[in-house]
Order: sequence, then C-alpha cells, then structure tokens
Amino acid sequence: MLKESMLPKTGAIAVIDTQWGDTGKGKVVDLLGEWADIIARGTGGANAGHTLVVDGKTYIFHLIPSGILQDVCGTITIIGNGVAFDPKVVCEELAMLDEAGLSYNNLKIANNAHLVLPPHIVVDRVRELIAGKSKIGTTGRGIGPLYTDHVSRCGLKVRDMLNPEQFRTKLIKNLAPKIKYLQSLECDTVREVFQEETLGLSTFWHETNVFDVDAIVEAYVAYGRKLNHMITDTDNLLREAVKEGEKILLEGAQGTLLSIDHGIYPMITSSDSAIAGLAKGVGLSERDVDIVFGIVKAPYMTRVGEGVFPTELGVPEDDSLYPDADINSDDVIEQCVAIRSTGNEFGATTGRPRRIGWLDLPLLRYSLQFGGDKLVLTKVDVLDKCKTIKICTEYIYDGPDYDLGGSILLRNGDIVSVAIGDDWIMSHMKPVYETFPGWVSDTSQIRDADKLPANLKIIIEFIESSVATRVAIVSVGPERDQTIFV
Ligand code: IMP
Repeated sequence: MLKESMLPKTGAIAVIDTQWGDTGKGKVVDLLGEWADIIARGTGGANAGHTLVVDGKTYIFHLIPSGILQDVCGTITIIGNGVAFDPKVVCEELAMLDEAGLSYNNLKIANNAHLVLPPHIVVDRVRELIAGKSKIGTTGRGIGPLYTDHVSRCGLKVRDMLNPEQFRTKLIKNLAPKIKYLQSLECDTVREVFQEETLGLSTFWHETNVFDVDAIVEAYVAYGRKLNHMITDTDNLLREAVKEGEKILLEGAQGTLLSIDHGIYPMITSSDSAIAGLAKGVGLSERDVDIVFGIVKAPYMTRVGEGVFPTELGVPEDDSLYPDADINSDDVIEQCVAIRSTGNEFGATTGRPRRIGWLDLPLLRYSLQFGGDKLVLTKVDVLDKCKTIKICTEYIYDGPDYDLGGSILLRNGDIVSVAIGDDWIMSHMKPVYETFPGWVSDTSQIRDADKLPANLKIIIEFIESSVATRVAIVSVGPERDQTIFV
C-alpha cells in the first residue's frame, strides 16, 4: 500500500503541519510509520491531540506518538527532549493503550525532556482567565509557562523524577516566583482553577503556600517509578540510529503558523513546530532529515484559539441553529457550519469548534520557507459536495504605513503574496480569491491519482504551481487506505 519509491532507502523523513495544526498528521504518520524503524516526536505537549480508532472505539491521545500503532511490529517510538512532558497525561494514555490492547513495549522517553508541573497548568489557566479580550485561547495544558521555565533556566527535567532529593530542591526554587505571582492575584480565581474537577489538581492546593510541595514530590516520584524503564538518553539513541542508517520518521505537533519562532506572533504556541524545532527536539539537526512532508488541509483550512485568520468564513454563534446546514449555501455562516460538521472540525484536546476558512496560499508560501519538500493534501473529501471553491492567492494590505526594515515599506493598497509573521499586520490583510468550480463527486473511494476528478486535478496543479512544491499524497478519508499517492 505504501509507495516505497517515494521514500529514501535509509535516513530520516519528517511530517510537519504547514498550517495551524489539526491537519490530520496522525493518519499520515501512521501510514509512513510502516516504513520506519523509529518514530520520534520532538515538540509540543498535551496541547496536541490525535485520534486513533481501534476496533471501532475512538481514543484521543496527546503525548503518546501517533506512530504507537507500529509498536507491535517492533518499531521504536520516542517522546523526545523538546516535548513538554506531562507524566500524568502519559500514565493515563498508557492505561488507555492497555484498555485498547495495544502494546507500547518499545516506547522510550527522553530523560532530558522538560516536565509539566501543576504550577504550569495553574499559571496558564489563571493568565488566560484574567487576560480578558487579549487572551491567546491556549489549550490550558501549561505549555507557555513550561517553555518559559525552560528558557528561564529553572525547569525540571524527566530524569529529576528519578532523583527525589534533586526534584524537591529544584521544585522549591521553581515554585517561588509563581507563588509570589499567584498570591498577588484574586485568591478565588486561583482556587477555582485548582478545584476544577477535570484537572485533578486539588491535591496540590495549599491554603497558605498555594502549592503543596510534598504532594507534588510524592506524585512525581511515583510517576518516575512507573515510567523508569522507558526513560533513557533518546538523543543519543537517535544520533546512533542516524549513523547506523536506520529509517527514522519525525512526527511534528501543532503547525508552522503556531511556531514560537516562525508563527504569526504572538498568537502562537511556545515550541518551534517547524522542521528545525522538530529535529532539535529529538536531538538531531535539520540536515539529518532527507524529506519533509508538509501537511496542508485543503482546499479549506482551520484554526482554534484566538488570532488572525484572513480567509475565515465567519463565526457562527450556535451551530445547532443550522441542523441541515448546506455546504453550498449563499450564507457563509451556514456554509461554515456545514464544512465544520462534514469535516468534524472540533478540537481533539479542548473540544472547541475549529474556525473555518478557505485555503490561504500567502500563508502556505510563508510557512514553506521554514520547511516542506513535498505536500500532503488532507481532508480533500470534505468538500466533495461543494460547487464552488475559493482559494486565496494574495492579499491587499489595508492599513497604515508600516516599516518592515531593509527599505521595505508596507503601504495601504500594496499587493502581498507571502504572509508576514505578525498578528497585527496580518489583521490588515484583505484576501484576494481565485474561484474554481468544485469537483462535486465522491472522492473517498478513489485510490488512483489518474482517477481524481478533473476539477480537483486543476486545483491540485494550481496549488503546486502557486507554491512551487509538488503534492505527493492526497488523503480522501480517515482510513489508512483512503490515500492516493500522486
Ligand atoms: P498553547 O499551545 O496551549 O499555549 O496554545 C497556544 C495557541 O496554540 C492556541 O491558539 C491554541 O489553540 C493553539 N494550539 C496549541 N496546540 C494546538 C494543536 O495541537 N492544534 C491546533 N491548535 C493548537
């Protein structure tokens, strides 16, 4: 089923998302995972979510690599050093794997990954609660505060869980500024977060010190005992694997537009979800990667959380007002609801409805600058019934003069063909669309590129020529075999 000729005989390949996440990377990783000896994840944390369907039952995982289904074939899966490692979530996911009868004998955890601690989750949520309109719309999984500690050089690492005394000493140091910060706020807001039932944080609440140090140490040392046999130097394991010529698949999380370094700042996540961050997050270099597959949901795209979305169709107040929403409706809000429900566009981590818009080529051109050798178009079948497809080809800048440096002045009315990584600037971009007739036929049963409908082929070729990158795979449904190698 897998087209081996498009993959190298040895070496590393990577799957990254070129948009705002949720493009269906999990399926592609699972598919390409057949080729790999090792599958490694290097960025993000429990903010990510991927869905696995086993014997008709659906499981949502956040930290266990999507490639875990290959464990049964002896494939090693790795949670790398760049992942925001929440041991509580991982232990829950291992229990789900047990329940599903799936093995994880070859799962390895980087001993140097940073640990998500209760204070990270509390600070993330409290900040969002008090930010009002300027909130980022985070997933509330402690990601920002965790990476803040990383660069502030006060984080705790996975291996600290195996050394209780070290853990305690570092934890006390780590907590001090957070306690000060939380004590300066409305006590009720802080208590509310601790007591939110689904978070399971109430045991870590201390009436006067905010955090109960003993309770945190006890819980994390217990996680360490449970995970001990999986914790190892995975950076070294991967470096050796590269030398030995093993086949390595790097699994991205989130998307380039959310990258801390290249995303549309500041409405982004806190790790580098582009290829450089992914390679670094497993102890390798970008140069070790032979092919980067860039996933593109097309010809529509989605976003969750706040931030600019130039091609967004609209913001439905309540999807249930459109029980029979028509994907060809003249009312864009109804069309948005129809695409959302056809594509089941609800966040795997938070359940939030995903925002819906048309494919945006200036954003794709921007994001491919940071990696993507071949494109993988996903969820194409979602628009099977759509009679008219719109694709944003460029923007008209509609804002005050803005000096970009290097003698480049952005002026009102300028045509812009490559996005700019700034939320404020992007909020002044008005999309210009090219309209295509839809293919209006069922693609979900097609397995051969030659059999793709003519109108869809025209759109695929248009995307390829607009971003100077070839499409290698088209996904027409969630099942492994609903895949077309081009
Ligand atoms: P955080 O990563 O939880 O701090 O959230 C920062 C931004 O990234 C928010 O807009 C989130 O909705 C978004 N985000 C984080 N992880 C994902 C993901 O896996 N898919 C889509 N959006 C994400």
